[in-house]
Amino acid sequence: MEMTARLLDLDLQAPLFQAPMAGAQDHRLALAVCQAGALGALPTAMLSLEQLDQELKALSSGTQAPFNVNFFAHTQPEPDPAALQGWHAALTPYYLELGLDPKDMPQGAGRQPFGPAAAEVLQAYRPAVVSFHFGLPDAQLMRRIQSWGSRVLCSATTLPEALWLQAQGVDAVIAQGLEAGGHRGHFLSHDLSEQMGTMALVAQLSRALSIPVVAAGGIADARGVQAALALGAQAVQVGTAFLCADEATTSPLHRAALMSPNSRHTALTNLFSGRPARGIVNRLMRDIGPLSPLAPAFPLATAAIAPLRKAAEAQGRSDFTPLWSGQNTLGCQSAPAAQIVQALMAGFPPA
Ligand SMILES: Cc1cc2nc3c(=O)[nH]c(=O)nc-3n(C[C@H](O)[C@H](O)[C@H](O)COP(=O)(O)O)c2cc1C
Repeated sequence: MEMTARLLDLDLQAPLFQAPMAGAQDHRLALAVCQAGALGALPTAMLSLEQLDQELKALSSGTQAPFNVNFFAHTQPEPDPAALQGWHAALTPYYLELGLDPKDMPQGAGRQPFGPAAAEVLQAYRPAVVSFHFGLPDAQLMRRIQSWGSRVLCSATTLPEALWLQAQGVDAVIAQGLEAGGHRGHFLSHDLSEQMGTMALVAQLSRALSIPVVAAGGIADARGVQAALALGAQAVQVGTAFLCADEATTSPLHRAALMSPNSRHTALTNLFSGRPARGIVNRLMRDIGPLSPLAPAFPLATAAIAPLRKAAEAQGRSDFTPLWSGQNTLGCQSAPAAQIVQALMAGFPPA
């Protein structure tokens, strides 16, 4: 398969994709990446429909270059009162410690999966790429997106997931290795023992699939890019290395953690949302996790954590903050995103 900047007919300097990172960026990072010749991405999992429209407006009016709009495609769980009660009981001591009233513990879903209403908003913008995490929306919605000319991408964490996505007609698969920061994108099996590192996953997927494979997880410099390409990837997706970019919205506490020796200690945790995600180990993860059966189903764990996080952050503490990070923080630098793009671009062969 040809490895060119025209991968998926995208007009890019090289097939370098910035990973969408909900909670750590908005259109500004995506725009800076697009302007530097790579594929910028807009994460939308935490946006209302109005915010989605505003962000899309800001991004599309800022660049003619292709960009990626990313959605979560999980199934919203039925609230389980017993599970929520157990979760609230586990968090009560922390509420008391921070002077918060446990009776005010909020509930609710926080993150909505992609659906027809979001598709309505998206249709006006027809982005070059639409990507999904946690599986795909229903087939009709996916066809609708592709009918606009948008390419559909989705994360896979195992070979069976990648083969399933290919059979559904996605245009490319993102091979998300275990090194990756943020949420694991699995959707066929919740058994984490099936998941593997980027090197193993990219090699397996690029051998078995006929559609392009995008390598994600642990890629932080030009050599990482070269390694992914050597394993058969057609493109790379990089997240953590952009977290300290000037244009990211990553909080000062999160930036400090990424730049500190603590960033050597990451783990998968389900405490902040209900689904496993990789972040820098902090107090809550040490105390009751990192993976705990007490956390209710995704995304229902999030709401009750929010007041703890806010109160602790006001004291300069990240005890209850999800410090999402991949295993490889080597590429994190406080610099314009364009500089980070340039460093990664050096790993691609000349056009
Ligand atoms: C802070 C953070 C937030 C993330 N949020 C999303 C998201 O909203 N949607 C998504 O598809 N992937 C998300 N990811 C995962 C990335 O798409 C990608 O798999 C990962 O960043 C690649 O590994 P790396 O962080 O080692 O570069 C997130 C990753 C991070 C670090």
